[in-house]
Amino acid sequence: MSNGDRITGDVPGPRADRRGFLGAVLGTGMFGLVVSVLYPMWRFVFPPRDVRAAEEAVGIGPADDFPFNSGKLIQFGNEPALVVRTAEGEFRAFLGTCTHLACTVEYRPDLGLIWCACHDGQFDLTGKNIQGPPPRPLPPLEVQLRDGEILVSRPK
Ligand code: FES
Repeated sequence: MSNGDRITGDVPGPRADRRGFLGAVLGTGMFGLVVSVLYPMWRFVFPPRDVRAAEEAVGIGPADDFPFNSGKLIQFGNEPALVVRTAEGEFRAFLGTCTHLACTVEYRPDLGLIWCACHDGQFDLTGKNIQGPPPRPLPPLEVQLRDGEILVSRPK
């Protein structure tokens, strides 16, 4: 090799190893960033499908296990639902997501109402919004008693 020859290409050694390591770290970081942006978009466009909510009734146990003037939150597909047994013993059920900003509602036996803790929204036992910021009633669900068991389903 004469003095005029130039060395081209990567020179193996510690410098090339650091460059490769940095490339791997940055590549992994970029991959993670892309996945963390695209995955939520993918799940929004193609949400997980829960067959129970769309097509079937959800069994929530024997009616005798439900005290009068009480409420119970259940999982209805991928949404919460609120089942209420009134002081008179009637069953009512609603989707449990507040129509204001989507907090989960609960039954307040002391008020005899459905209540949203986020902004003190209130619904009567027909699901109608009666106080606070909720703009619409709670969507009702159908309650059936079959062989002593309570079944909740979407209205047909
Ligand atoms: S989210 Fe329920 S009252 Fe605001």
